[in-house]
Amino acid sequence: TAVADLAGRHVVVSAGGTREPLDPVRYLGNRSSGKQGYALATTAAARGARVTLLSANVELPAPAGVDVVKVTTALELREAAVKAAAEADVVVMAAAVADFRPTDYAAVKIKKRDGVEPAPIALVRNPDILAELSEHRARPGQLVVGFAAETDQVLANGRAKLARKGCDLLVVNEVGDGKAFGLDTNEAVVLGADGSERAIAPGPKEDLADAVWDLVAARLGAAEHG
Ligand code: PMT
Repeated sequence: TAVADLAGRHVVVSAGGTREPLDPVRYLGNRSSGKQGYALATTAAARGARVTLLSANVELPAPAGVDVVKVTTALELREAAVKAAAEADVVVMAAAVADFRPTDYAAVKIKKRDGVEPAPIALVRNPDILAELSEHRARPGQLVVGFAAETDQVLANGRAKLARKGCDLLVVNEVGDGKAFGLDTNEAVVLGADGSERAIAPGPKEDLADAVWDLVAARLGAAEHG
């Protein structure tokens, strides 16, 4: 897009997947490559936005003209997101955030011992960053957009998730079985808190990103013009 319809706007995008450490060498993680989040950051910058990209464990080059904040864990992402959201017009949570983290962190590498059964890994809940950002908007009219990675009952789960998280838009994409994670392409249905539903055809992650920014720009414009 050559249209600078996000000029003067500050957008925050999260990308990648959090890692929750067990010991100095091991973590619980997920398959997010960060490609979808980086595509959102790149396209927003191309449309004139000031972009803060919260990047969790992504091995992609930093997009030109974008402020990158690196994080590892869900707790670090939450801190960075709350800080960046304070000045943002739009927050898009494309990162895959771990719902749980290990209860204990072993300061030295966990050892295996002959004849001793491994201890189970105890988990505690991580905060829901998207729900928090949606509930406590840092400024009036701030738009909060979530992603939903679903493997089954995609639309029904998406609707329920939108209601639970309280965001304005939820981009529901199917994952697993060679879908979405790590690929250059994606497809989705964008659900709106106003009941709207927009299907985005399979294509490059940049195209899906632009379709999301189209919906965001329309909402920002509508709010401005009453
Ligand atoms: O990175 P790629 O390889 O390109 O893959 C892209 C993607 C599949 C990771 C991406 O398109 C995507 O779907 N991201 C969201 C993944 C996810 O965590 O979905 P979820 O359904 O578990 O979470 C729903 C929403 O809540 C997400 O916006 C997530 O960022 C947010 N969340 C989840 C848990 C939590 N504790 N805090 C959160 O903010």
